[in-house]
Amino acid sequence: MNPEILQRYAAPVPRYTSYPTAPHFTNAVDAATYGQWLRALPSGSALSLYVHIPFCNQLCWYCGCTTKATRQYHPVADYMTALLEEISTVADLMPRDCRTVHMHWGGGSPSILSPDDIRRLADAIHSRFQRDPAAEFAVEVDPRFFDAERIAAFSDAGVNRVSVGVQDFDPAVQKAINRTQTVEMTRSVVEMFRAAGVRSVNIDLVYGLPYQTRQSIDRTLDEVLALAPDRIALFGYAHLPSRLKHQRLIPDEALPNITERFAQANRAANRLVAAGYVRIGLDHFARPEDALARGPVHRNFQGYTTDAADALIGFGASAIGKLPQGYVQNTPVTPDYERRVLAGDLATVRGRALTDEDRARGLIIERLMCDLRFPAAELKAQFPEQAGSLIEEAEALLESDTDGLVVPHSEDVFRVTEKGRAFLRSICACFDAYLGQGEVRHSVGV
Ligand SMILES: C[S@@+](CC[C@H](N)C(=O)[O-])C[C@H]1O[C@@H](n2cnc3c(N)ncnc32)[C@H](O)[C@@H]1O
Ligand code: SF4
Repeated sequence: MNPEILQRYAAPVPRYTSYPTAPHFTNAVDAATYGQWLRALPSGSALSLYVHIPFCNQLCWYCGCTTKATRQYHPVADYMTALLEEISTVADLMPRDCRTVHMHWGGGSPSILSPDDIRRLADAIHSRFQRDPAAEFAVEVDPRFFDAERIAAFSDAGVNRVSVGVQDFDPAVQKAINRTQTVEMTRSVVEMFRAAGVRSVNIDLVYGLPYQTRQSIDRTLDEVLALAPDRIALFGYAHLPSRLKHQRLIPDEALPNITERFAQANRAANRLVAAGYVRIGLDHFARPEDALARGPVHRNFQGYTTDAADALIGFGASAIGKLPQGYVQNTPVTPDYERRVLAGDLATVRGRALTDEDRARGLIIERLMCDLRFPAAELKAQFPEQAGSLIEEAEALLESDTDGLVVPHSEDVFRVTEKGRAFLRSICACFDAYLGQGEVRHSVGV
């Protein structure tokens, strides 16, 4: 790849897990708005539930998630009390006949919960939200702090998908990111979940980490492929030390430059495709028989998903929800979250009510991120008023592309090429009407 092209598209852009993106949420949406939106949910809605656990046993220095390290369990226990309260408050506001079709516990590390708390939390949710028999229930697990009792608890709770953090197995990289994790402990967790009947295992990998090289990634991939995960997420390291203090512990000079980052991403992707994985969107890979490879694929705050629920309900500090009217987000400050929900209130502090133009642009960005195509036909059918000018924007983008990132298409106006896939976020940014408004920091676009 021409280094000039790389530099051009290296400009910071969002990861587009929503549109508008979270930095454009405002306090015009608050707890009162969320209450109204919950009450207005149509009866029988299909729900996706997200539960955020903002705690980890140890902090990884690269981490960009909303989490805090704790050596003691009492902060987690206090948080559990608050979560149970929020679940009850939200359930009281909604129609009783909604069905849960998808549930995801993320963080932080939901695997920090004690086996009793895993069962208690799942029981509270299952007793208040009717569960569809075919529902997916996914949980994020840190394999460094895990045991058989927790597997049993997750299995009793109904977990059928697991996502295991790996990042990189190279000792020098692990030392630089404060995350020591052996292949053996990872394999043992994957095998335990499989023995407990979990049907899909995802592994998270990251490129662009300190001291990472194409060779170290190759060695990590040898070990990862031997575990035969159903899905792999391959994220580019987002280094934002001005916003995340702990990332300052990573020396800048140890980070691969943009050309090396690109080469690492390419090398890893080519190996995964050669090993039989189907490439999905920007950074996911799935075995051909996995639901994600069969599609249709959607994009939400957890990344790529098959989740097509009518509403996403988020529980916990910083959790984001999406209702037909728009987005809501809970306060990210855990003590503030606990205070609000223990007082019987909702913890929403910001959000975004959607206009039709937001929805139309959101559709374009989601289809580009998932299918690499501009959805002209859906736009005309769903947003006839907005479709004309948005299709003109697409035609202008096609005309201005001199780098071979997009090609003309008879129905879709354009499709993104394999070369363009690496710059998908920058292509989506062309349809983002809010980009550049306000002080927002994003990571590099490659
Ligand atoms: C909540 S963690 C996964 C579960 C568990 N806490 C763990 O680390 O094993 C979410 C994932 O986000 C990715 N991640 C975290 N910080 C990142 C960053 N700064 N840039 C890119 N990916 C990051 C990692 O791949 C990580 O596994
Ligand atoms: S990567 Fe996972 S385990 Fe590490 S600090 Fe972030 S959330 Fe916690």
